[in-house]
Amino acid sequence: MTAKEIRQSFKDYFESKNHKIVPSAPMVIKDDPTLMFTNAGMNQFKDIILGNVPIQYPRVADSQKCLRVSGKHNDLEEVGHDTYHHTMFEMLGNWSFGDYFKAEAIAWAWEYLTEVLKLDKGRFYVTVFEGSEKEGLMRDDEAAAIWEKFVPKDRILNGNKKDNFWEMGDTGPCGPCSEIHIDLRSDEERAAIDGKTLVNKDNPLVIEIWNNVFMQYNRKADGTLEPLPNKVIDTGMGFERLCMAVQGKKSNYDTDVFTPIIKEIEKITGYEYTV
Ligand code: ALA
Repeated sequence: MTAKEIRQSFKDYFESKNHKIVPSAPMVIKDDPTLMFTNAGMNQFKDIILGNVPIQYPRVADSQKCLRVSGKHNDLEEVGHDTYHHTMFEMLGNWSFGDYFKAEAIAWAWEYLTEVLKLDKGRFYVTVFEGSEKEGLMRDDEAAAIWEKFVPKDRILNGNKKDNFWEMGDTGPCGPCSEIHIDLRSDEERAAIDGKTLVNKDNPLVIEIWNNVFMQYNRKADGTLEPLPNKVIDTGMGFERLCMAVQGKKSNYDTDVFTPIIKEIEKITGYEYTV
C-alpha cells in the first residue's frame, strides 16, 4: 500500500464505525494561550473534551499535522538523530466524546492493525498504566483485561506515568493511556533478544506506533485532577511509522512519504542520498 492508501484506509475504517471524518486543524494555534503549535490530534477538540462547547459528533477521526518542537511534547532533540522522529508529522486519530470507551477503542485498534492492514500479530506489545500513588490512581486493570482478549498476557506490560499517563500540557485534558508497540526487527534478531525487553528503550525498530488515551481528567493549574464531564477516547497513531511497518521498511525516511521528495532533491542537487 502507498502512504496515501494507508491514510485513506484509516479514515475508511473509522468511517465504517460511524465516525465523522474531519480535516486536520491548522498547526499554529490561535485561541489557546497554553499552546503555540498543534502537538496532538486532540488539540482542536479541547473545548469539547472540557465540556465548554457542545458535542456535535460523538465519534470523529482524522489525520492531524503536528509539530512537536516546544513545550511538554518536544521531539526536536531526536530529529535527525534517529529514523522515526520528525519535526512535523501526521497523527492518525479517532475520538469518542462520551460515546464508546476502552473496549471498543482497543478492539478497533487491534482489528485495524491486524485484520485490515494484516500486520503480524506476533510483533505487537502493549502497555497499560501501572498507577500512581502520588496521583491517587490505580493500575488500569480494565485496559489490561480487554487486551487479554487479543494478546498473550506476557505481552501486556506496565508503564509508568511518563509513558502511560498522557497530558496535553501542564494543564488540560489527560488520562491513563495504553500504547501499542511494534517490533520490526528481523527474525534472527527477534529470536536472539526478546522484544518485550526493548519496549520504550529507544530501539529504532521496536517503536510505539499508536497511543490510546482514556481521558477522564482535566489537570488544573494547581496540579489537581478534576473529572471531565464525559469520558473521552483520544488516540494518536504515527502515520510515518505506520507506513514504515506496512511497507516493510527500516526507517520512516524509506517510505513513500519521503522518497519522492528525497529523489527530487537528488535530481536538483546532483547528490545521491545515502544513509
Ligand atoms: N493525544 C495522544 C497522543 O498524542 C493520543 O499521544
